[in-house]
Amino acid sequence: MFTVIIAKDKDELAKEAFKVMKEYLVPGNVLGLATGSSPLGLYKLMIEDHQQNGTSYKDIKTFNLDEYVGLPRTHRESYYRFMHDNLFNYLDIPEENIHVPSGVGEDLDGQCEAYEKMLDENPVDIQLLGLGSDGHIGFNEPGTPFDSITHVGDLTESTIKDNQRFFNDLGETTPTKACTMGLASIMKAKKVLIVAYGKNKAEAVRGMLEGPVVESCPASILQRHPDVTVILDEEAAADLNEKH
Ligand code: F6R
Repeated sequence: MFTVIIAKDKDELAKEAFKVMKEYLVPGNVLGLATGSSPLGLYKLMIEDHQQNGTSYKDIKTFNLDEYVGLPRTHRESYYRFMHDNLFNYLDIPEENIHVPSGVGEDLDGQCEAYEKMLDENPVDIQLLGLGSDGHIGFNEPGTPFDSITHVGDLTESTIKDNQRFFNDLGETTPTKACTMGLASIMKAKKVLIVAYGKNKAEAVRGMLEGPVVESCPASILQRHPDVTVILDEEAAADLNEKH
């Protein structure tokens, strides 16, 4: 079941997302978090709220969606680092409450299995998602089975190309794989909050909300979730045919 909110711009979108998230910022809760540009406005508001209103994260746990294979936590472009630079370093969350899949190690499959087990032991109260322009959520690219759990997945050519700009100036090859929560892992969250802005998301937004539920549009699986809030800006909502 979708609740769709259309905000006039990126700032409004962040405010609407914060209103939803705020309800979940209570001791004992588990937040599922995302990287990328879409949640940045929301993360700024969470930091502001912590600093101004004293909302505490001491008893909140977080689980991130994904991490690039091959990047250690210390790498400038790792998602572990992204989350610290853009959120965790400004909150009072204890490091042991933070979980980001690891993209390095001898046994990535075993690590993914262990991550899924931790998710089962710590059911996510609210899962925040961004949306890829090809309809991906987490790094579940088109074609990923709906019953997938945390796994190592291949990135598509278009995702690799999108990411090249972050790695070229380092003279490094762009990662081609990621450890990601699967679609079934995401669907276990009690509540899903998905945010998308900009016209390059419009087609994926339509696929998610109005298209058939098919593995070629991973986000379409959210049509089967009982409680999803979708927050869009006007550009991302531009291709919708129906009133939501
Ligand atoms: C991030 C993630 C991805 C992004 C998506 C949108 O952890 O899993 O699915 O949410 O690629 O990225 P942005 O927000 O940068 O457009």
